[in-house]
Amino acid sequence: MGTRSLFDPLVDAYDAARPSYPDRLFADLEWLAGRELAGADIVEVGAGTGIATRQLLAHGARVIPVDHSAVMLGRLRERTSGLGAVRADGEALPFTGTVADLVCYAQAWHWVRVPVAAAEAARVLRPGGALAVWWNDVDGADLRWYERQQRRLEAMSPGYQRDYRLRPWADELRWTGLFAEVVTVSDRWSRTLALDAYELWLRSKSYVQAIGDRLEDFLAAERKSLLEAFPDGMITEPFRTVLVVARLA
Ligand SMILES: C[S@@+](CC[C@H](N)C(=O)[O-])C[C@H]1O[C@@H](n2cnc3c(N)ncnc32)[C@H](O)[C@@H]1O
Repeated sequence: MGTRSLFDPLVDAYDAARPSYPDRLFADLEWLAGRELAGADIVEVGAGTGIATRQLLAHGARVIPVDHSAVMLGRLRERTSGLGAVRADGEALPFTGTVADLVCYAQAWHWVRVPVAAAEAARVLRPGGALAVWWNDVDGADLRWYERQQRRLEAMSPGYQRDYRLRPWADELRWTGLFAEVVTVSDRWSRTLALDAYELWLRSKSYVQAIGDRLEDFLAAERKSLLEAFPDGMITEPFRTVLVVARLA
C-alpha cells in the first residue's frame, strides 16, 4: 500500500460536494440482505470521508470503516468522533475471522479487482452474510450539457471514458462462484445545486483532477455550457443509484 492515495488532494471538495445516498437504497439493502441494518456488524471498505458510513450508523449499524487513504480516514474521524477506522486495502482485509454481517462498498467497488476483493469480503462474512456495492451514477445520457461535458472530459482527462463504470457488476460477482444469490436494483432521483457547488462537485472527481494544467480551462468551459442550459445558475442533475447485493449461502 502506497503512502498517498489518488483521493488525498480531493478530500475538501469530496467532503463538501459529494451527494449522500437516497433512503430507498438502505431499505433495499435491508430487503436484499435479508436483515435489518440496526445491530448489523458492517465492514465498510473505501469509506472515504464517511458519507455512507454516517448513513449506515444512522440506521443503527455498527460500522468499521476501512480505507487505504490516511487523509480520507482522517476527515472521516474528524466528522464522526469516537469511530474507530482502519487503514487497509479491500484486497487484503486485516481481519482473521468472520467478523461481518455485511461488507459494503459505497462508490468504491470499481477501485478493486473483483475476484480478489470478493474473496476477501466472503472470507470475513458470517454465514448468510452479504457483500453490498453501490454507486450514485449521473444519469445524463440524453442531456446536451452532459454530452458536452463528457466529450470535454474524454478530450482533456487522460484515459477517461464515460462508460468506465458500465460493467456487468452482478455477473462479475456470480462468476466468482462465491455467492448463492446476486441481485441488482436501481433508483432514479435528482438534485439541484448552485453553480459554485456544482463546480466543487466536479473538482471532487479523480478524473477531473487528472486534467492537470488545463483544469481551469475545463471548468471555465463547463461554467459557460452550464449557464446556457441553466440560465438561473441552478444545475439540476439526474442520478441513478445502483445497488448490487451478493449473499453467501
Ligand atoms: C469515490 S471514494 C468513495 C468514498 C465513500 N465511500 C463515499 O461514498 O463517498 C472511493 C474511496 O475508496 C478508497 N479506495 C480506493 N481503492 C481502495 C482499496 N483498494 N482499498 C481501500 N480503499 C480504497 C479511496 O481512498 C476513496 O476514499
